[in-house]
Amino acid sequence: MHKFILTIAGGGSTYTPGIVKSLLAKKEEFPLKELRLYDNDGDRQEKVAIIVKEVVKEFAPELKVLTTTDPETAFSDAEFIFAQMRVGKNSMREQDEKIPLRYGVVGQETCGPGGLAYGLRTIYPMAELIDLVEKYANPKHWIVNYSNPAAVVAEAMKKLRPNARIINICDMPVATIRNMAAVIGEDRNKLVVDYFGLNHFGWFTKVTVDGVDRTDEIRKHAIKHGLLVEDMTKVDAQHSDPSWIKNWKNIQYMMEMFPDYIPNPYLQYYLLGDSIVEHTNVEHTRANEVMEGREKRIFDAVDEYNRTGEVDLSSFYTGVHGQFIVDVAMSLAYNLRKRFLVMVENKGAVMNLPEDAMVEIPAYITSDGPEPIRVGEIPTFYKALIEQQYAVEKLIVEAAIEHSYTKALMALTLSKTVPSAFKAKEILDELIKANKGYWPELN
Ligand code: NAD
Ligand code: LMR
Repeated sequence: MHKFILTIAGGGSTYTPGIVKSLLAKKEEFPLKELRLYDNDGDRQEKVAIIVKEVVKEFAPELKVLTTTDPETAFSDAEFIFAQMRVGKNSMREQDEKIPLRYGVVGQETCGPGGLAYGLRTIYPMAELIDLVEKYANPKHWIVNYSNPAAVVAEAMKKLRPNARIINICDMPVATIRNMAAVIGEDRNKLVVDYFGLNHFGWFTKVTVDGVDRTDEIRKHAIKHGLLVEDMTKVDAQHSDPSWIKNWKNIQYMMEMFPDYIPNPYLQYYLLGDSIVEHTNVEHTRANEVMEGREKRIFDAVDEYNRTGEVDLSSFYTGVHGQFIVDVAMSLAYNLRKRFLVMVENKGAVMNLPEDAMVEIPAYITSDGPEPIRVGEIPTFYKALIEQQYAVEKLIVEAAIEHSYTKALMALTLSKTVPSAFKAKEILDELIKANKGYWPELN
């Protein structure tokens, strides 16, 4: 059986040990010849590698693991590249969240001005990663990309690197499916969903299990409880921090008002923005929760290893995040044609949205990439919201490519999270200062 060379770019991510554990759980079906971890922060990479190597020792001691900051070593002959870079790391995430909040506007890593700031930081490093992979990797490679803000990254790569062998994915739909499965007491892998939207901006329209429509049961639960299920920590260690409990709960308010479709949790930032701002502590945002939680647990475990030589394998998250990227890679590797929600160019799948929009919809994943399914027409309310948000994403990509301050200001002004052009300008000017050295220059 062929064994694959797989590289994780952003190998210093807190998610790497969980992804590696998911990979090794499938080592019989998807065997690896070599696992490479690549990061531009060698120090962080080596620390996270301590935990990763322990996972490998436990589940596949025969596997060769290599850590590097050198692109040629990382990508030579690689067949799969899992990308998960956080450009500017969590300290810049903190700025993305706190700067808009100081102006009374949603502060979030992928939504609103913070997401646009993160997008401007990520577009060119992502294009550079694609170039390096194309230079060194196996010509039939696939890049499976988790790097956020995925909607902006997908739109930018469509324009800048249209022939790249990249597939942009997000774990939010699959995490939501997992919660919906828990609501109806089913295995998440049995749920077949219909869905349309952009990344972090979409709706589930139908859920079936063994051909039986179960949407109404989920809808009734969501109108009462959101998608919070009884013991979140059992269902999901990744999305059970206090902020995530609120996020799942907030689905209730969106469902009470618009009960037809089940929203992606991130829609709360657009539809319930003022209430979210009111209930957010500008001094302590999600970035702080992550740094004090997920990130600290990993680095505490590294310190513990340095003191005692023992590694605590419960210091990282496993679950849908790792399982999903591995499932997508296997469908690409073996032409399994599995149906997943991914980002693709619309090309008429949603008939009344722009042809060139990067939509998130169901697709069959083949060895040649995604084959999207036809969604048809969508109702006015959803169409209008999506068109507005898509214009925001398109404008921020054009701002990066054309170095245009005005287009960046248009993007912020058009975001549903921002109340006026005056606010947009104040926030943009502060974000420019905070992102010095990271953003393309805007004139
Ligand atoms: P993290 O900060 O723990 O790790 C990210 C790593 O990327 C760091 O080690 C950093 O040094 C590295 N990096 C930054 N720029 C790089 C570059 N140019 N080249 C190589 N490495 C680079 O971040 P995290 O919280 O683990 O998240 C990782 C990524 O995955 C982020 O983009 C995050 O937004 C994304 N994410 C996506 C989803 C999804 O479903 N789409 C879910 C969770 C996280
Ligand atoms: C993260 O994992 O930090 C994010 O990308 C999603 C979240 O939990 O805020």
